[in-house]
Amino acid sequence: MDNEQKQIILTGDRPTGRLHLGHYVGSLKRRVELQNSGKFDEINILIADDQALTDNADNPAKIRDNIINVVLDYLSVGLDPEKTTICVQSALPALHALTFYYMNLVTTARLSRNPTVKAEMQMRGFADEGLPVGFFAYPVSQAADITAFNATVVPVGEDQLPMIEQTREIVEKFNRLYGETLVLPKAMIPENETQRRLPGVDGKAKMSKSLGNCIYLSDTAKTIKKQVNGKMFTDPTHLRIEDSGHTEGNVVFTYLDALCTDDHFAEYLPDYKNLDEMKEHYRRGGLGDGTCKKFLISVLEETLSPIRAERAKWEKDIATVYDILEAGTAKARETTGATLARVQKAMRINYFADRGIIKEWEKLLKQAKQ
Ligand code: TRP
Repeated sequence: MDNEQKQIILTGDRPTGRLHLGHYVGSLKRRVELQNSGKFDEINILIADDQALTDNADNPAKIRDNIINVVLDYLSVGLDPEKTTICVQSALPALHALTFYYMNLVTTARLSRNPTVKAEMQMRGFADEGLPVGFFAYPVSQAADITAFNATVVPVGEDQLPMIEQTREIVEKFNRLYGETLVLPKAMIPENETQRRLPGVDGKAKMSKSLGNCIYLSDTAKTIKKQVNGKMFTDPTHLRIEDSGHTEGNVVFTYLDALCTDDHFAEYLPDYKNLDEMKEHYRRGGLGDGTCKKFLISVLEETLSPIRAERAKWEKDIATVYDILEAGTAKARETTGATLARVQKAMRINYFADRGIIKEWEKLLKQAKQ
């Protein structure tokens, strides 16, 4: 297969809301680094609107409205449409067809064991209400996404590992049944703990819209300040400045771990050379939460203000953003269409690819008469 040597990335997001700092630290920042590393032949990012519908069938407007937010967030963090193909899932019919074939290669028992789907089922209340088939089967559709792009590398959060595992099983089964056709992908997960899981400002495990504990990439400086000063959790045992404090589990320090550099100290808090020195002082006592929060706000501003400015530029030209998305989707339609053709050929169900089957059928009928 000619794609075998190529290094191809596919990743994606469900367009259910604006992207936040957790997305930035956990995936967007790295996507930009991968994009600019020059190490990959192709980078594709899928806006997974069909997957988003599997648990939002009652609210397609939410998905429709957030596609633009997600693209704007991508463009503002530095994903470059010249280097990265950004596309919309629902406009790629090959993905639907592939999903349909792959569904025959997976058992319901296997799907029931997917720990991420199980957890999401609980969260959505599907255990009581009944489980939509589309939602139950979305890991199969995700396998279609990944294989359609011939992805070798899939950069994702840890919670997506079961999807990649499921994809690999489908690839192996497909290739065994129909001959070597699909590319076996590998997951790539964030390197360190803070990148993997940035908590909400309130210290809850995850940033989530419903908890109101997010810092969005598109938030204003004022909102960010309010979130940090008003809601951010520090160390409840650190009552007076002189008291010794804990930096572990202290959200201000978790965010600093994820975001600050020595340059930030030189610029905004020259009392310390680096985060280790600052933490040491906090633990020893004598460093107040106010100073820490003020520093964090400066770091957040330095990180987010260029993103905010970039977003403002793109927001003035939505027609161009539309064109970018349409062009990316057109390109992806070719890639994914070619994979579907290869799959149908391998399964020998490409009846109308040429008229070759006429001879085959004629021979078959003649033999039946003898
Ligand atoms: N399931 C992913 C998420 O919720 C989104 C997604 C859809 C995806 N298709 C993909 C991720 C293909 C990587 C590759 O974040």
